[in-house]
Amino acid sequence: MEIEIPKDKLPKHIAFIMDGNGRWAQQRMLPRIMGHREGALVVERISEVGFRWGIPYLTFFAFSTENWKRPRDEVEGLMRILDESIDKFKNKLIENGIKLKVIGNISEIPSYLQERIKRVVNETKYGSRGIVTVALNYGGRWDIVSACKKIASDVIEKKISLEEISIESFCKYLSTYDLPDPDLLIRTSGEYRISNFLLWQLAYTELWFTNKYWPDFNEEDLKQACLEYAQRKRRFGGL
Ligand code: IPE
Ligand code: IPE
Ligand code: MG
Repeated sequence: MEIEIPKDKLPKHIAFIMDGNGRWAQQRMLPRIMGHREGALVVERISEVGFRWGIPYLTFFAFSTENWKRPRDEVEGLMRILDESIDKFKNKLIENGIKLKVIGNISEIPSYLQERIKRVVNETKYGSRGIVTVALNYGGRWDIVSACKKIASDVIEKKISLEEISIESFCKYLSTYDLPDPDLLIRTSGEYRISNFLLWQLAYTELWFTNKYWPDFNEEDLKQACLEYAQRKRRFGGL
């Protein structure tokens, strides 16, 4: 399927809150983890669509700083699925000239997954056509507090003065320092909230929601979201 939206009307950065994996599985009398497996396949499929349409930045919320509250089995299963999926995704990223970026507090995730991420980030580092970002043990509040700590430390070390702290310089301390703010946020599963995703970065992002569960989200849905996005008038506080 090709997209009939002019390139300048397409979002450059789409962020996804991939929600509803568990309910998708439960609806089919399957264990929740099967929903996560299916959800991981959708990340690959949707990314390929994005590459084909020339959308340079795609960001996926895979695990939040709050998701540790889930049963241990589910958390462990999710980490395994992430490990396998990142490995499987690698060749497609390289083929398409896309870098992998991971944001979040990686020091708290299992070491095998930390190693996998390091390897794949390194192997995709020459990609110059776009960035796929996976938010893993990520929270918007964590991101802002980490940025504050780094900036405070730079102030103490006199690398930056208080006067030099501005919205622009602060952005460089966030985990998304090399990404533009998302143009479009898509959340599946009929929930209408941000759930501590990119709090700072979503300030002027267009929001799009669907009742579909993430494993059912497809190219047609992405197209619908982009078509609606293309028709919106972004004012950024102006007229
Ligand atoms: C989203 O699906 C994936 C993660 C949060 C890891 P959920 O697991 O939240 O699925 P539901 O919301 O329980 O259906
Ligand atoms: C948001 O989904 C986090 C991810 C998609 C990784 P949740 O299912 O954790 O969000 P809540 O708990 O419904 O707000
Ligand atoms: Mg959920």
